Amino acid sequence: MSKPQTMRLDKLLANLGYGSRREISMLANSGRFLLDGARIAHVDERIALTPDLPERLTFYGEELDPLPGCVVMMHKPLGVTCSHKEAGERVYALLPDRWQRRDPAFSTVGRLDKDTSGLLLLTDDGAFLHNVISPKRNIAKKYRATLDRPLREDAAALFAAGTMMLEGEKTPLLPAVLDVISEREALLTITEGRYHQVRRMFAAVGNHVVALHREKIGGLELPDHLEPGEFMVMNEDEKAVIFG
Ligand code: URA
Repeated sequence: MSKPQTMRLDKLLANLGYGSRREISMLANSGRFLLDGARIAHVDERIALTPDLPERLTFYGEELDPLPGCVVMMHKPLGVTCSHKEAGERVYALLPDRWQRRDPAFSTVGRLDKDTSGLLLLTDDGAFLHNVISPKRNIAKKYRATLDRPLREDAAALFAAGTMMLEGEKTPLLPAVLDVISEREALLTITEGRYHQVRRMFAAVGNHVVALHREKIGGLELPDHLEPGEFMVMNEDEKAVIFG
């Protein structure tokens, strides 16, 4: 197994949003941070970022926040935005305040529209983000769409053909799988992440999406117990399910 990364303790804690290095030094001196139950004498020493570190290093008696390299699974509610450019509450505001001061910061892994709900991943791990969104990986994303009017009978064949062109684009869409549930409800699985792709695909077959919810990314399904606005930190096994 490879050696764990090490980092200066004050830098780690500052990067996790606990304060400036000066504030961290003061908090450590006054025993607010404890390492293995003992006061930290030297915050400038390097520490190994082992998985058990959050349990060993406490702040006011509470386990440390997740270490860098964190992946969060969120049930994105309707009405919040993934974009910094769009007005309104951002998905990041659903995370604890301190997590919003982290460096590197959390980014969303791809985006969901403001009026789309469902499975959203956030991470501070650039390599993980790249692996999920890279076109080379072809990670499937499954959406449940509620439609304005009955679906055209040939919609599934058109989506599967690999020849469909969206307005204003130069390359055809990759084949996508449509599972029709009823006249106005369908599951659509796509492997790309083009702008408003699902809504535009249904528009291209003369329909209109009235509700959109992402159920799955790769092999990972949004768990039933995760209510809109709730999130959980993913462990290595859960992350692996995405690519499995
Ligand atoms: N496609 C869309 O149109 N919207 C989303 O939020 C995701 C995929």
